[in-house]
Amino acid sequence: KFDGHDSVWLFGYGSLIYKADFPFLERRPASIANWSRRFWQGSHDHRGTPEAPGRVATLIPEPGAVCAGMAYLITPEVFAHLDYREKNGYLRFATDMTFDDGSAAEGLVYIASADNAAFLGEATEYAIAQHIARSAGPSGPNREYLLNLAQALREMGHEDKHVFAIERYLDQLG
Ligand code: BEZ
Repeated sequence: KFDGHDSVWLFGYGSLIYKADFPFLERRPASIANWSRRFWQGSHDHRGTPEAPGRVATLIPEPGAVCAGMAYLITPEVFAHLDYREKNGYLRFATDMTFDDGSAAEGLVYIASADNAAFLGEATEYAIAQHIARSAGPSGPNREYLLNLAQALREMGHEDKHVFAIERYLDQLG
């Protein structure tokens, strides 16, 4: 049993929003407060290579911000198989989540903070788009990750200025 529970909420704000490659009991749109989604984490294992890392989402602390995502209720057994996500600099944290109906729960979230070796950090959204446009890894083109995420957020009715700005630049870059 996981801390005495037979299920656990996992909050996703990146690829988990549009792709869950594991069984889950429930899937609900949710958000967390005081974090912003930014394409500031390097990816050498999924959307880039060790020589040319791509750029993927992480969360940056920002008081007052709200990050929309998707929460998955999963069993401890399924959760145990997700440990590979701790590679490439992501660490697991507990967080309060608010579901779109206003109810709340505690969930787990993977965050890559500024002190991890793969962190790339801030760049202009145009520079991030250029970087994404030229990157690819074992999971596919880096642009596919960004465009899938932007589309999923749009379908959920969530405005994300950072993601949508990069999406527009990617469209322009062709
Ligand atoms: C996410 O979508 O929240 C996520 C996916 C993989 C690693 C870390 C976070």
